[in-house]
Amino acid sequence: MLRTHTCGELRTSNIGANVTLSGWVQKSRDLGGMTFIDLRDRYGITQLVFNMDTNADLCNEARKLGREFVIQAIGKVAERSNKNKNIPTGDIEIIMDSVQVLNPSKLPPFTIENETDGGEELRMKYRYLDLRRNPLKENMLLRHRMAIETRKYFDEIGFIEIETPYLIKSTPEGARDFVVPSRMNEGEFYALPQSPQTFKQLLMVAGYDKYYQLVKCFRDEDLRADRQPEFTQIDCEMSFVDQEDVLNTFEGLAKHLFKVIKNVEVDDFPRMPYDEAMKYYGSDKPDLRFEMKFVELNELAKGKGFMVFDSAELLVGINAEGCADYSRKQLDALTDFVRRPQVGAKGLVYVKYNEDGSFKSSVDKFFDQAALKTWADAFNAKPGDLLLILAGDVAPTRFALSSLRLEMGDRLEIKDPNVFKPLWVVDFPLLEWNDDSQRYHAMHHPFTSPKLEDVTILDSDPGKVRANAYDLVINGVEIGGGSIRIHNREMQKKMFQILGFTDEEAQSQFGFLMNAFEFGAPPHGGVAFGFDRWVALFGGQESIREVIAFPKNNAGRDVMIDSPSVISKDQLDELKLSIKK
Ligand code: AMO
Repeated sequence: MLRTHTCGELRTSNIGANVTLSGWVQKSRDLGGMTFIDLRDRYGITQLVFNMDTNADLCNEARKLGREFVIQAIGKVAERSNKNKNIPTGDIEIIMDSVQVLNPSKLPPFTIENETDGGEELRMKYRYLDLRRNPLKENMLLRHRMAIETRKYFDEIGFIEIETPYLIKSTPEGARDFVVPSRMNEGEFYALPQSPQTFKQLLMVAGYDKYYQLVKCFRDEDLRADRQPEFTQIDCEMSFVDQEDVLNTFEGLAKHLFKVIKNVEVDDFPRMPYDEAMKYYGSDKPDLRFEMKFVELNELAKGKGFMVFDSAELLVGINAEGCADYSRKQLDALTDFVRRPQVGAKGLVYVKYNEDGSFKSSVDKFFDQAALKTWADAFNAKPGDLLLILAGDVAPTRFALSSLRLEMGDRLEIKDPNVFKPLWVVDFPLLEWNDDSQRYHAMHHPFTSPKLEDVTILDSDPGKVRANAYDLVINGVEIGGGSIRIHNREMQKKMFQILGFTDEEAQSQFGFLMNAFEFGAPPHGGVAFGFDRWVALFGGQESIREVIAFPKNNAGRDVMIDSPSVISKDQLDELKLSIKK
């Protein structure tokens, strides 16, 4: 036995016991007569004491132990005279009898402490050292607990976990596929799944009416804080259900995780139609931790001679409560913010509702005090408030104002990380027009069913058709999305036609699914949650990298193992692949 206890385990009840601990040297302090070492493993830290008076040789040995050396320490548990209330083992220490170096360590390139001096790139290169640090360790433990609790919840309500293949053929879900050459089938490629979508539907046809899987998905898309090329979904599907059944079942999972992981009881999740989310928050993932709803001013402010407004499709604003005292500099900063290319507005109109009841605006030339008062009333504004207004085409203006709303949320510190506001956004459009390809694309994916009442306008007005599709949004993060599926061959065929597939293309790419629909496919629907995003949200992390043990950097590289990398000519030849220089 290399250890009898872990470094997080010993308490005053163990005083007098002879123990053996193994772990890493966190730090050592040489006080002349005494040397103290903090010994760390994943369970905690225990203080080791070496006494010059009683065992000089051992104390001299201890002085040679460097940071991150792996050692085995044997000694007796004693009560500490100087207790450390910050750690659970802080009431005791180990008076050392012997110590053995199990493996020395080079000096780590950054300090293994909660706040480290290592830069991002260095920490990624030595990820195994970064993972020794508490913040990452906590994230790994959180991730583990959430996975276990997810499985518990599903098991209790009769769901079974079934693995689906990773070497498949492409499923069009918006991103590019990662492909894998097949040695045995020259010139042909597998694709790594962007999600197990078609397989879970086939499992429904097979009769496994409650399926889930914690599953890796792969998407070759541009990376951001909430996107990795490989990520994990909690993928779910059910048969003989309508949309409400699906939402309630998975709301149950969310409530379970809130309860057991965050210890919060959340109310029933509101359901907000997509149109409403866009109209009032300019986003299909509204952050409901704060109000600041959009107010449209077309009726009040158009046609009064101010060209910017008169030529705009939409005039819309928000009320930044209590911000009427913003300085010129602060207002300029907001204008610069909305003009950033990522936000895209041309300018920002402001109206200050002064404490004395008067108004000061950037459009005083065009609108008098009475007119501005009608705007203020539309916003339910009170003296001391600041109205921020954008004008332009509907979609980009809503997008820009949505960014400004979130920015104001940050500035006013009203996005409390300890408050959780989940909601379902429902009634997404089935299709969205793509100007580049000059055709409709599926907003969710091609297997999503249209709303029954909208089927009649599928041909005449496809852009207006709503889908049985929904997203779970928490605090402005899209945690999951799903839909009730098409389960009928003819409807699926029609869908592919609308999406611009010829019958031959549809048959060659998705014939397997449409064929299956002819063998008794039950009505079915489901959802997939972004597991990494959910863990990051619960762990208070901005980036999902912090909750993935070995993530890729922004260029899609694993700098630790140096991947992707070139492969040998022999490997290429074997795969019948050649690289043109
Ligand atoms: P969707 O494409 O919406 O749906 O994906 C589901 C959820 O997965 C997460 N997610 C990601 N997380 C990290 N990195 C990425 N690159 C990434 N891409 C997506 C998001 C998202 O909400 N098969 C359908 C689901 C269904 O219809 O049942 C699907 O994959 O949190």
